[in-house]
Amino acid sequence: MFSFIHLLPLFFFLSLAAAYNVRPTFNVLSYGAHANRFTENSNAFSRAWTDACASNTGGRVLIPRGSYVLGPVEFEGPCKGPVDFIIKGTLEASDNPADMFRDHWITFRYVDWLVVTGGGFLYGHGRKAWPHNDCAKNSHCKSLPYTMRFDFVNNSRIEHLNSFNSRSGHFNLFSCHKVEMSYIRISAPYWSPNTDGIHIGLSTQIRILDSIIKTGDDCVSMVTGSQDIEIQRVQCGPGHGFSIGSLGGSKNEDPVSRITIRDSSLKRTQNGLRIKTWAPSSPTLASDIIFDNIVMINVNNPIFIDQQYCPHNLCNSKAQSNVQIRNVTFSGVRGTSSSQFAVKLQCSRNVPCEDIKLKNINLAYHGPEGPVASSCINAEGRSYGFQLPSGCL
Ligand SMILES: *[C@@H]1O[C@H](CO)[C@@H](O)[C@H](O)[C@H]1NC(C)=O
Ligand SMILES: *[C@@H]1O[C@H](CO)[C@@H](O)[C@H](O)[C@H]1NC(C)=O
Repeated sequence: MFSFIHLLPLFFFLSLAAAYNVRPTFNVLSYGAHANRFTENSNAFSRAWTDACASNTGGRVLIPRGSYVLGPVEFEGPCKGPVDFIIKGTLEASDNPADMFRDHWITFRYVDWLVVTGGGFLYGHGRKAWPHNDCAKNSHCKSLPYTMRFDFVNNSRIEHLNSFNSRSGHFNLFSCHKVEMSYIRISAPYWSPNTDGIHIGLSTQIRILDSIIKTGDDCVSMVTGSQDIEIQRVQCGPGHGFSIGSLGGSKNEDPVSRITIRDSSLKRTQNGLRIKTWAPSSPTLASDIIFDNIVMINVNNPIFIDQQYCPHNLCNSKAQSNVQIRNVTFSGVRGTSSSQFAVKLQCSRNVPCEDIKLKNINLAYHGPEGPVASSCINAEGRSYGFQLPSGCL
C-alpha cells in the first residue's frame, strides 16, 4: 500500500544530504573496472568521472583497493559541483607501446573544486620507458608521459598520494590557481632521466606542504608565470633540488615572483636552492624569493644562482642572460656541502643580480681542495649574521 508515510524517510535522507552536502559515490567497479592486472580500465574510470562531474550536488569517484591497469586518460570539466577523486587502490600504467610518447598518463583539466586523495599508489613503470629517453643527446627528443597533469584546475587539493617511477615528471601544474598539495610521496631512482617531482608553470597561489620527494631531477621546479608559491616542510633527495627555472628559454615569459621555500631539507642532491636562467635568453624577471630555515646534508651546490645555464654545452659561453634576478633572500641555510663552492652567485653581466641577501649561512665542506668557499659574479646585495663560507657580496 502506497502512502506518504513511506516516502518520509526518503525526504528525510534527501534533506540531510542537502544539509550536509553528502555527495553520491561513483565506484569504478560499478562501471566495469577490474582490479586484475589484465583489464585496461580507462573507459570505466572515464564513465565514473563523467557521471560524478555531471552530478548537481557534486560527487565522489571511488577507486577501491586493488591493482588497476590504466592507459592514458583525461578527466575533464567543467563539472556541476565539487568532485572528489578517491584513489584507495594502485594504478599501474599500461605498457602499450602506442602510449609511450604521450604527454600524460592521467590528466585533470578545466576543473574547479577538485580533491584528489585516498592514500593510493601511482606506478608509472618508468623503468620500461627511461631507455627511450634520449634528451641528453637530442634537443628535439620526444617527451615521455607525466604521471599526473593538472591543467586549468582551480581551488583544489591534491593530497595523500604516492607516485613511483614516473616516465617523465611525476606531477605537473599548468595554469592552476589556488591549489594545495600535501602529504605527497614521490619516489624514483637518482639516475632516472627528467623525472621532476612537481613542475609548476603559469600558476598562482600554489602550496606544497609536508611531502617527501626522492627523484632523478628537480624535486620542485617553477618556471614562467609561477607566482605566490609556498613550499613548506618538504624533504628532497636524491634529486636536483628546489629549482626556479630554467627561465628565459622562450620569448615573452611571465615573471616568476613571490616564491617562499621554508622549513625544508635536502639530502645528497645535485643542487640545493637554485635559480637558473638560460644564456643567451629572452628578458624576464625572477623576484621576491625567500629561502628560509633549510637544512642541507651533502648537497653539491647548496646555494646556486646560475645565469649561464646551458646543458650539454650547446651554447656560446660568452652569451649573457637577460633575466633580471632581484630581491632574493637565503636565510638560515645550514649543513654540509659536497663541493667546495657552497655559495655560487653567477649572475649576468647584462642584468646583474640586485638585492641578494645572505643571512646566517653555515655550510661546511670537508675535501681536498681546502675550506668551503663562495663566489659572486655580477651580484649586488648584503650579508647579515653568521657567514660560512665567508660572504662575497
Ligand atoms: C581559474 O582562476 C583563474 C585566475 O583567477 C581564472 O582566470 C580562471 O578563469 C579560473 N578558471 C576557472 C575554470 O574557474
Ligand atoms: C622582497 O620580497 C619579499 C618577499 O616576497 C617582500 O615581502 C618584500 O617586500 C620585497 N622587498 C622589496 C624591496 O621589494
